[in-house]
Amino acid sequence: MERLSLKDLREQLPVTEEVGYFQTGTYGPTLSSAVKAVTDAMEYEALHGPARPDTRQYIMEKEEAARGHLADLLNVNPEEIGIGSNTTRAMHRVLRSFDWGEGDEFVTTSLEHVSTADASRGLEQERGVNVTVVEVDDSDAAFIEALDGAITEETKLFLISHIASPNGRIMPVREAVDVAHEKGVPVLVDAAQSVGQIPVDAQALGCDFLIGSGPKWLLGPMGSGYVWVSPDQSDNFRPYFTPDVGAWSKPGAPVATPTARSRAEFGTYNHPLVIGLGQAVKTLMSVGLDTIRDHAAGLSKTLRQEMQDTPGVNVITPLEPGKSAGVTTLTFDGYGEEDMQGLVQWLNDERNILVKAQWLTAPLQLDKIGMRISVAGFNTEEEVRHLIDSIRDGIRR
Ligand SMILES: Cc1ncc(COP(=O)(O)O)c(C=O)c1O
Repeated sequence: MERLSLKDLREQLPVTEEVGYFQTGTYGPTLSSAVKAVTDAMEYEALHGPARPDTRQYIMEKEEAARGHLADLLNVNPEEIGIGSNTTRAMHRVLRSFDWGEGDEFVTTSLEHVSTADASRGLEQERGVNVTVVEVDDSDAAFIEALDGAITEETKLFLISHIASPNGRIMPVREAVDVAHEKGVPVLVDAAQSVGQIPVDAQALGCDFLIGSGPKWLLGPMGSGYVWVSPDQSDNFRPYFTPDVGAWSKPGAPVATPTARSRAEFGTYNHPLVIGLGQAVKTLMSVGLDTIRDHAAGLSKTLRQEMQDTPGVNVITPLEPGKSAGVTTLTFDGYGEEDMQGLVQWLNDERNILVKAQWLTAPLQLDKIGMRISVAGFNTEEEVRHLIDSIRDGIRR
């Protein structure tokens, strides 16, 4: 595979000429190579006709290669991945595969994205499911112990983020999986914030399902996401009403074994988008996920040190090495929602810097708001210095 540098990566993101982009945890900018892959494929389909056999072959070859890149990134088999439109829908595909009923339990953590909190409410309201939220404080050991106590005979599924959306904390997923599996409970890992930010090996995590998003840290096209299903769970993954033998199977012909891909992907879909997602993954792998993580973690260390030395600013992201990478969340003494939104807007308007006003809890607690700063592989030290100075100016303004 061709090697690319962090500088090459940045050159594929023309928006970095315009703005200090620290919002990759929300939406990353799309790599120009991914945009080109999407538009080339769309043009090809339009010019040559999507139904023509040659066109279909050309597009499917590109698509299979793209799927292979995503599978390589996660260290899994391409047929174990279903590609769709975002993380939330991928999450619902997994949730829908379980036969939830009154009194069943869904266990999750206090650091989940609002999409999990909403799914939890839906499960409670529609199916009478009991939702247990395990509190995460500073200690991984205390979290694992609390998780152990929270999983019961009634628990059907445990969901945990790999990197927590509110504060960028890297969660002890492997240990959590071991605890859940000891009690026979499958684990869904929400990797929306980790895949593309740090190296992620789905098999090494040991989880049963892993979901993620194309346009965040993978710098891929909007409207792309995926679910990976471990081979052990393949039979249980039934998000839709899919027959074991298709209605158009030829009598007597061998029956193809359903895969996570075939169960997750139904009907016509956007092939160029899948090709673009694969191209983004390929580009990041050409730079190297270790290189990307180390660069972002290094810049984030400087940012956190400087912010800790700034009166009135608190770093709520864990500082121990290995417990976070490119995300830093800050709180500001005495800042409520309006003050935080005002500062974020000021940074945008006056300093050309994009950061996020981030609710720290789901469900919402109106007094818990921070500033989430996503440092990615394409950000530079100069940008981070400008950000540090600008935050200091912003709180003095
Ligand atoms: C941890 C986590 N899960 C899920 C989501 C939702 O992702 P999507 O918008 O792709 O559905 C996000 C988005 O920020 C997230 O950070």
